[in-house]
This record gives sequence, C-alpha cells and structure tokens, in this order.
Amino acid sequence: MNMIHNKILLSGIKPTGRPHIGNYFGAMKQFVDLQHDYDNYIFIPNYHALTTVHDRELMSSYSLDLAIDLLAIGLDPKKVTLFKQSDVPEVTELAWIFNCLTTMPYLMRAHAFKDAEAKDKDINVGVFDYPILMAADILIQDADLVPVGQDQKQHVEFARDIALKFNRTFGEIFKLPEAYILDTTSNIPGLDGQKMSKSYNNHIPLFAEDDEIKNLVAKIVTDSQTPTEPKNPETDNIFALHKLFSLNDLPDLTKRYQTGQISYKESKDILAQNIINFITPLREKRKLIAQDLDAVKAILKTGGVRARTKAQTKMAEVRKLTGLHG
Ligand code: ADP
Ligand code: TRP
Repeated sequence: MNMIHNKILLSGIKPTGRPHIGNYFGAMKQFVDLQHDYDNYIFIPNYHALTTVHDRELMSSYSLDLAIDLLAIGLDPKKVTLFKQSDVPEVTELAWIFNCLTTMPYLMRAHAFKDAEAKDKDINVGVFDYPILMAADILIQDADLVPVGQDQKQHVEFARDIALKFNRTFGEIFKLPEAYILDTTSNIPGLDGQKMSKSYNNHIPLFAEDDEIKNLVAKIVTDSQTPTEPKNPETDNIFALHKLFSLNDLPDLTKRYQTGQISYKESKDILAQNIINFITPLREKRKLIAQDLDAVKAILKTGGVRARTKAQTKMAEVRKLTGLHG
C-alpha cells in the first residue's frame, strides 16, 4: 500500500447488476486514473444494495462480479484498499449516531428519495436513510475526495453537512469531504437520451459481448432526419456516445453531421465498432481475472480487514466523544 499519499480518496459502486458505460465514465474510470495520487478506498456498498436486492444468490454474485469488474478496468490492489461494505459493520453503528443528529425534513430534501417515493409510496426505510449510511461510509474513513457522477453530488454534500453538525455538537473529528465530478462525463445519456441507468434499462453494460453491443446501439433513439439532411451533433444521442468512444473520428463526424453526409444507421455502425474496440481488451482481462476467484476473494478480505481496522479506530473516538463509552 502506498502510504506516501496522505489525502484519502473513497468511493463505492452498488452491486445491483452489471455496471454500464455511464458508471464507468461517470465514476469508475476516475478511480483508476487517480489511484497513483491518493490513499484509495474503493468499496462495494452491499448494505446500500440491500434497499433493492432481496435475493441471497444475487447479492453474493453481484458483489463478487463487481470486484472482478473493478480489477479488470485496472484498479491495482497494491494501491487501492478494495473491500465490501459489510466487512466494515461499524458504518451501520455510525449511521445510527448520524440518524440521531439529522432531521426528517432535511433528509426529505434528497433528490434520490423524492424520485423513489414518486415511483412507489411503499419504499423501505433504508431508501430514506440511504444518504446517512453513505455519509458514514465517507466520514468513517476520513475521505477527502469522493469521485462520483452528478446524481451523487447531493449525497456528498449531505455527508459534509453531517460532519459539520457532528463536529459542532461533539468535537472536531470528521474531515469535510469533497465530491470529484468531471463536467464532461458527469451525466452520460442512455439509449433513450435520459440519464443512463440500470433502473431505466437504457444502458450498455461495460463488459457486453459484441452482438449485445450492436443490438443495443441499434436501439439508440434518434430524430427522423433523412441521411442527406444536416444533423445537430449536440442534440443527437448517438453523437453523445461518439464523444466517449470515437475521439479520433470526432472532427470528421461533426462535419458529416452538419453537412448532411451521414445517416444515423452509418453513425451507429461506426459507434458500435468503436465501442467493441474499447470493450474487447477489458472483457479479455475480466475473463482472466475471473479464472481465479479465490484470488479475488483474498483481495476483498485483505481490503476488508484494513478498512475495518481504520474504521474501528475512528469509532472508538466517536464513542468517547458522544459519551456512549467512557
Ligand atoms: P445506476 O443509476 O445505474 O444504478 P449507480 O447508482 O450504481 O448507477 O451509480 C454508480 C456510480 O456511477 C455513481 O457514482 C453514479 O453517480 C455514477 N453514474 C451512474 N449513472 C451515471 C451516468 N449516466 N452518467 C455518469 N455517471 C453515472
Ligand atoms: N450511493 C452510491 C451510488 O448509488 C454508492 C455509494 C454508497 C457511495 N456509499 C458511498 C459512493 C460512499 C461514494 C461514497 O452510486
């Protein structure tokens, strides 16, 4: 573990299914790009996933698969403490303490909660309390930087507010974390132009097979401009993905769009091929890593012990300051 870096980076990806290219460009790629510059904690928030995944086999396979995915995109376990959230049960204890410092009206402002409630009034208490557990994840590890997509910005702000409240009430022990969000990739659109999300089923899985990629790209929603009509690259859903996968072709594609020299069909064919070229080596690496599941489990176990040890030290201070112990 590289201890030269004293700034701490922390983030998590929920084990709720296969990650998609929105997760990759919005968050996961930053974990890899920044891993040389921080002391890194990347984890699999399975307690958070429990708000929606109520199947033992699925929970366990999604979690292990995600660990393989994170290693396949280039996370180096020598630089990153990779762990499962449930290996640090202290976060649930800290979440309870934060529950008692946070008001209901404050939590009701959460966009994610409002969206979930608008869809289903019968949501569980875990969905409501989700930001508190996330604050505990972040603050228990003394994180400075939290790379996430735009939809998680408010949750990181909540973590800051909760840190301030605790520090004011009991004593200064929590750092104030900052979200790290890249403007260009904070909100990757899906096949229908809405935010790409597993829950909207408009996503392209990061480790998709070639045929799956071709079929999904063919479904991207476009307007009805004919091949020879000029097209606006800034409003087209295919072009939004070219900006991620077709960097070398961008000047040419822009010109052909604006001058009516490309059909959406051809644009999709170019995009599908570029996505395949990008994903193929990742998929190959993933297959290799998946051949040794014991090694992956060992990485998670080592990471879990390291993350828990750190969390236990922090919790000892919290218990003292709150008068719960001593
Ligand atoms: P999903 O919405 O597909 O369930 P998650 O909530 O698991 O995705 O998100 C994991 C990470 O990926 C978070 O940091 C989130 O902000 C980011 N993310 C998710 N969807 C996108 C997107 N369409 N564009 C950019 N980042 C995204
Ligand atoms: N809420 C995040 C998501 O849906 C996952 C998450 C849980 C997380 N705890 C975290 C992200 C702490 C960053 C830091 O994607």
